[in-house]
Amino acid sequence: MSIVYNEKKKTFSLHTASATYQMKTGNLNYVKHLYYGPSICDEDMSYRIRRYDRGFSGNPYDSLEERTFSLDAQPQEFTTQQQGDFRINSIEVCNSDGSFSFDGRYVSHRIYEGPFVLKGLPAAFATDRDTVDTLEIVLEDAVSKVQVVLLYSVFEEKNIIMRAARVRNGGNKAIRLERIMSCCIDYLNGSNMDILSLPGRYGQERQVERQPMTHHVHRIRSGRGISSHQQNPFIVLAERSTNEDHGACYGFALMYSGSFTAEAELDQYDQLRLVMGIGDSMFCYSLDPGEEFDTPAVLMTFSADGLTGMSHIYHDFFRNNLNRSKFVRDVRRPVLINTWEAAFFDFDDVKLIEIAKAARDMGVEMIVMDDGWYGKRDDDNAGLGDWYVNQDKIRCGLPDLVRQVSKLGMKFGIWFEPEMVSEDSDLYRAHPEWVMEIPGRPAVRSRNQLVLDIGRREVQDYIIESVNSILDSADIYYVKWDINRAVTDLWSNALPADRQGEVPHRYVLGLYRILDEIIGTHPDIMFEGCAGGGGRFDPAMLVYFTQIWSSDNTKPLDNIRLHYGSSLLYPVCSMGAHVSDASPMVPLETKAAIAMCGTFGFELDASQMKKEDIRTCRKMSELYHRYYNLNFFGDYYRLTDPFIPGNLESWENVAKDRNEALVTVVTEHLTVNGPQEYIRLKGLDPDRLYRMEHEGKDLVLSGMALMHGGIPIPREVPDFTSFIYHLTAVG
Ligand code: GLA
Repeated sequence: MSIVYNEKKKTFSLHTASATYQMKTGNLNYVKHLYYGPSICDEDMSYRIRRYDRGFSGNPYDSLEERTFSLDAQPQEFTTQQQGDFRINSIEVCNSDGSFSFDGRYVSHRIYEGPFVLKGLPAAFATDRDTVDTLEIVLEDAVSKVQVVLLYSVFEEKNIIMRAARVRNGGNKAIRLERIMSCCIDYLNGSNMDILSLPGRYGQERQVERQPMTHHVHRIRSGRGISSHQQNPFIVLAERSTNEDHGACYGFALMYSGSFTAEAELDQYDQLRLVMGIGDSMFCYSLDPGEEFDTPAVLMTFSADGLTGMSHIYHDFFRNNLNRSKFVRDVRRPVLINTWEAAFFDFDDVKLIEIAKAARDMGVEMIVMDDGWYGKRDDDNAGLGDWYVNQDKIRCGLPDLVRQVSKLGMKFGIWFEPEMVSEDSDLYRAHPEWVMEIPGRPAVRSRNQLVLDIGRREVQDYIIESVNSILDSADIYYVKWDINRAVTDLWSNALPADRQGEVPHRYVLGLYRILDEIIGTHPDIMFEGCAGGGGRFDPAMLVYFTQIWSSDNTKPLDNIRLHYGSSLLYPVCSMGAHVSDASPMVPLETKAAIAMCGTFGFELDASQMKKEDIRTCRKMSELYHRYYNLNFFGDYYRLTDPFIPGNLESWENVAKDRNEALVTVVTEHLTVNGPQEYIRLKGLDPDRLYRMEHEGKDLVLSGMALMHGGIPIPREVPDFTSFIYHLTAVG
């Protein structure tokens, strides 16, 4: 059993294969957090908690004369509000009498098999091979009768604990929830911790930042209504000495696609508290008596094997427990060509077939018709919302176009941006009240488009019907689902004034319902997410989308950094990556080698390519297929850190059985007559021999030699040369 409740000691121990997470009830029925780290069986870890009379840290009234018990200094599993704990908190509720107070104490718990399910929100599921148990702990405020149910699903073999909270209004009048976090975790001493996050911007998503915890609140957030280019809903707490291969680190990944907040505070006693959940700016949710509110889930993990160990845990989990689509594991994803950077809005059916024909010779198996095929869409000023085919461009009609593509032996994909509307569109003319716009204040335009109020059921239904009718009109194999602006002007014409604080979260719930409906009824279509590149690249989106377009920046060298940062959490098979015309000084082979660190495809006008380039691309498409399993399902190792200036970059995929490995090296600036560079491999079996080709020669070397001595990288080569080494175990 992965969850053990010790009745006598009142401890809850949650065990994954290599970690334990522990809590205890007691001390006036508060639930204390005791421990998260390497397995400690069911040892009661409360001996670590010391109590002192701390000045200016108040005591709960019922602790009577006991001045050493203060919530300001005790590690808690979920915080109270206005009970003398002045640190960042996990809940802010305004009770029916106008008071801001929550004093949650343990009332009951239950343990059951299988993971928890959230209302309207995505969560991870258990496969047949997983042991998953769930613990629910109910906290209640004795005065307001507001309850918080803490939910923990322990994916034992996967080393993941999925956590969330459910608020229940057990009182008899409405309350207002102004902040509710999915998780709260207290470390007794965090002065030795660093915090890692993935900040970025449009075109430069998921870069890596690591900084020491200091005595203030480190806040990582998106207030953009989408998880955003600027931050990712993921943070790592790592001990200062932790590096790629060694040391303790904790990962927290929020399964949410809207505004979020992750806050970490090193307090006056060097205790560290982390909370993470829905962004609380403009968040305010009314709960009538009996109503419940579910928070999104957080996927927590602990690794004693450095950042690589943590990434491997997440990669395995994301590849197995998030998305049920057959395209994640069972059906091989085709090499695609996307028309965006090839033609932008300037194409018609004839041009598409021209590109498809040329691309077929590059080994491309699917053409994706990007933006511009619908409504009156000749530029980005019009047409969004009108999801019917533009007959001036697709003169033969969609079914016939798809037939022509399938006659070439290729599949057909199509682009949508359903959450948006152009003012110059039939949809806007018919339903101006469906956009988010604050009364009396013209809405903020971004890319000259407005945001639909998809929290409204009728807007959701319009999107579901109009997208479905296109999908059902032709043999479509793939959909790219885009959103090209942040969400502003939070106002819904369908809600009363005192419920407008619900709009941002209702938007996200609306999105999940739309995706559930469309994807659920089209299991044979593969869906890729997109948000002006990777502006909504988060674990919740991966429940719906098999892969997500990583960035509108297709410059290969920038993509090395993008893949590196993304790979802290996301597996290779989730990252859309294409070869494009950007960075002409970089050879095609190198561009392709880098795109193979993602889902691989092309984004260029194939009909204008030289014959020899077509041949190179074909070779690279073949390589993508040859190494598909290694790339998509192997263990990924970051061999260099592209944020540290160096002469070359390298990464590696190792098969789970360690029979095979694929190492990619890209030279950046090998200085003239400079030192010899070596790339030390990782993850091989030290005692086995591996065969590889090196400078035209067959080499057989032990895993030990390759991991400790490394591969000498040829240095008399032009900048941006790539080497792909395939190693197979012999004997
Ligand atoms: C976004 C996407 C691009 C492309 C355009 C179309 O920017 O990231 O790939 O689809 O929209 O408008």
